[in-house]
Amino acid sequence: MTAEPLEIYLEERDLQRGLREDARAGLSADEKWLPPKWFYDARGSELFEAITRLPEYYPTRAERAVLAERAPDIAALTGAKTLIELGSGSSEKTRLLLDAFTRQGGLGTFVPLDVSVSALLGSTAEIAADYPELRVRGIVGDFTRQLDLLPTGGRRLVVFLGGTIGNLLPAERAEFLAEMRAALEVNDWLLLGTDLVKDPSVIVPAYDDAAGVTAEFNRNVLHVINRELGADFDPDAFEHVALWDPAHEWIEMRLRATRAMRVRVLDLTVEFAPGEDLRTEVSAKFRPAGIAAELAEADFTASEFWTDPDGLFGVTLAQAR
Ligand code: SAH
Ligand code: AVI
Repeated sequence: MTAEPLEIYLEERDLQRGLREDARAGLSADEKWLPPKWFYDARGSELFEAITRLPEYYPTRAERAVLAERAPDIAALTGAKTLIELGSGSSEKTRLLLDAFTRQGGLGTFVPLDVSVSALLGSTAEIAADYPELRVRGIVGDFTRQLDLLPTGGRRLVVFLGGTIGNLLPAERAEFLAEMRAALEVNDWLLLGTDLVKDPSVIVPAYDDAAGVTAEFNRNVLHVINRELGADFDPDAFEHVALWDPAHEWIEMRLRATRAMRVRVLDLTVEFAPGEDLRTEVSAKFRPAGIAAELAEADFTASEFWTDPDGLFGVTLAQAR
């Protein structure tokens, strides 16, 4: 079957406006920052896929190991009719769930949602071809703002994989979970992937790989701003930095100015001192008790928690109560 045309919750002009607002706010702040969703144009989505194949980047492999083992349980426990995936990217690991649901029967619709049109075009075409019995409704949207627009009806399972929830700041995370819960009916399900706290000697290389792919991914946000907002960043004049913050238990990715720079962005002139940082992402790591507590706070009951054999990555199955 061919994929249905993408459903557009976010038009190109909405994306442009969002990027303008975020660039204006983040680049004029005392401590400069940008939200991570702007990494993911077509090149950024490809670079992320390349990251998932790096020897240092364990989260994808570890989460895949959990899903490979537990997908039949997830299908049986949830009995979902509709599977919604937030920040779906390539949906490559999600195929393990789709395979289990296909064997079990009963799943009718798969709804991947992402800000990246290029990622969705690829994933929906391939999944529609490989799972002809499924209706595939790709949605271009923002999971921090548009959860109220998710399809309704039938028992739903929302999956949010990869540890992407860790890219939200704690207050954004609480808001996200509350909005997620408000969008669901009692007894709907949430499957949440979270990278776990572990020795920083394992975590840091995952964000600072030897081949420099993560550095290119990080710098890509500057290419996006140059292209979309006509800015004149010199991305090569920024050094990739990945720092473990032990107090917050998160990785912070930054771009560090290697020299003094004056950058034109919209009507702003943004000054960088040598060595000044622009924060581009946090990637929080979690502890099991913290995940259950955050879910409970948002009115979810965590019913299962699974990890890979090395205990690197956690997957929680929770139910709306
Ligand atoms: N779930 C996949 C991809 C993770 S990469 C995996 O586990 O490998 C993060 C994905 O989230 C990217 O595809 C990116 O485009 C998407 N994304 C980031 N911020 C988003 C937002 N605010 N709304 C919707 N999608 C977002
Ligand atoms: C998408 N997200 C979970 C990735 C992460 O690990 O935080 C994004 C990423 N950033 C650097 N490498 C990968």
